[in-house]
Amino acid sequence: MLNKILVTYASRTGSTEGVTEAIGKTLSENGLTVDVLPVQDVKDLESYRAVVAGSAIQAAKWLPEAM
Ligand SMILES: Cc1cc2nc3c(=O)[nH]c(=O)nc-3n(C[C@H](O)[C@H](O)[C@H](O)COP(=O)(O)O)c2cc1C
Repeated sequence: MLNKILVTYASRTGSTEGVTEAIGKTLSENGLTVDVLPVQDVKDLESYRAVVAGSAIQAAKWLPEAM
Protein backbone atom coordinates (compact mmCIF):
# COMPACT_ATOMS: atom_id res chain seq x y z
CA MET A 1 0.00 0.00 0.00
CA LEU A 2 1.25 3.47 -0.84
CA ASN A 3 2.27 5.33 2.26
CA LYS A 4 4.21 8.29 0.97
CA ILE A 5 2.93 11.86 1.28
CA LEU A 6 3.84 14.70 -1.07
CA VAL A 7 4.00 18.20 0.37
CA THR A 8 4.48 20.62 -2.48
CA TYR A 9 4.73 24.37 -2.69
CA ALA A 10 5.11 27.47 -4.83
CA SER A 11 7.06 30.23 -3.15
CA ARG A 12 8.80 33.46 -4.12
CA THR A 13 10.50 34.61 -0.94
CA GLY A 14 10.53 31.45 1.17
CA SER A 15 7.62 31.78 3.57
CA THR A 16 5.48 29.12 1.94
CA GLU A 17 8.49 26.87 1.58
CA GLY A 18 9.10 27.23 5.32
CA VAL A 19 5.51 26.30 6.13
CA THR A 20 5.66 23.20 3.96
CA GLU A 21 8.97 22.16 5.54
CA ALA A 22 7.30 22.39 8.95
CA ILE A 23 4.33 20.33 7.73
CA GLY A 24 6.71 17.73 6.27
CA LYS A 25 8.70 17.57 9.50
CA THR A 26 5.55 17.00 11.56
CA LEU A 27 4.31 14.27 9.22
CA SER A 28 7.74 12.59 9.32
CA GLU A 29 7.81 12.74 13.10
CA ASN A 30 4.50 10.90 13.06
CA GLY A 31 5.89 8.03 11.06
CA LEU A 32 5.01 8.98 7.52
CA THR A 33 7.38 9.04 4.58
CA VAL A 34 7.30 12.53 3.12
CA ASP A 35 8.69 14.32 0.09
CA VAL A 36 8.73 18.12 0.27
CA LEU A 37 9.18 19.51 -3.24
CA PRO A 38 8.65 22.73 -5.19
CA VAL A 39 5.78 22.21 -7.62
CA GLN A 40 8.15 22.51 -10.58
CA ASP A 41 9.96 19.37 -9.41
CA VAL A 42 6.84 17.19 -9.18
CA LYS A 43 6.83 14.76 -12.10
CA ASP A 44 4.00 12.42 -11.14
CA LEU A 45 1.59 11.74 -8.31
CA GLU A 46 1.18 8.00 -8.67
CA SER A 47 3.57 7.07 -5.89
CA TYR A 48 1.77 9.19 -3.30
CA ARG A 49 -1.07 8.35 -1.00
CA ALA A 50 -1.90 12.01 -0.40
CA VAL A 51 -0.82 15.45 -1.52
CA VAL A 52 -0.62 18.67 0.47
CA ALA A 53 -0.24 21.67 -1.86
CA GLY A 54 0.32 25.30 -0.98
CA SER A 55 1.21 28.53 -2.68
CA ALA A 56 2.07 32.10 -1.93
CA ILE A 57 -0.72 34.41 -3.06
CA GLN A 58 -0.17 37.31 -5.40
CA ALA A 59 -3.05 39.51 -6.59
CA ALA A 60 -5.50 37.11 -4.91
CA LYS A 61 -4.25 34.10 -6.87
CA TRP A 62 -1.90 31.20 -6.36
CA LEU A 63 1.39 31.56 -8.20
CA PRO A 64 1.19 30.41 -11.84
CA GLU A 65 3.29 27.29 -11.38
CA ALA A 66 0.97 26.13 -8.59
CA MET A 67 -2.14 26.75 -10.69
C1 LIG B 1 3.24 41.36 -5.67
C2 LIG B 1 2.61 40.70 -4.45
C3 LIG B 1 1.24 40.52 -4.42
C4 LIG B 1 0.62 39.95 -3.29
N1 LIG B 1 -0.72 39.77 -3.29
C5 LIG B 1 -1.33 39.22 -2.19
C6 LIG B 1 -2.75 39.02 -2.15
O1 LIG B 1 -3.46 39.30 -3.10
N2 LIG B 1 -3.28 38.49 -1.02
C7 LIG B 1 -2.51 38.14 0.06
O2 LIG B 1 -3.05 37.68 1.07
N3 LIG B 1 -1.17 38.30 0.03
C8 LIG B 1 -0.56 38.82 -1.05
N4 LIG B 1 0.80 39.00 -1.07
C9 LIG B 1 1.58 38.56 0.09
C10 LIG B 1 2.25 37.19 -0.12
O3 LIG B 1 1.32 36.21 -0.53
C11 LIG B 1 2.89 36.76 1.20
O4 LIG B 1 3.91 37.67 1.53
C12 LIG B 1 3.40 35.36 1.15
O5 LIG B 1 3.67 34.91 2.48
C13 LIG B 1 4.69 35.25 0.37
O6 LIG B 1 5.03 33.87 0.31
P1 LIG B 1 6.45 33.36 -0.17
O7 LIG B 1 7.49 33.90 0.79
O8 LIG B 1 6.36 31.85 -0.11
O9 LIG B 1 6.69 33.84 -1.57
C14 LIG B 1 1.43 39.54 -2.18
C15 LIG B 1 2.81 39.73 -2.25
C16 LIG B 1 3.41 40.28 -3.35
C17 LIG B 1 4.91 40.46 -3.40
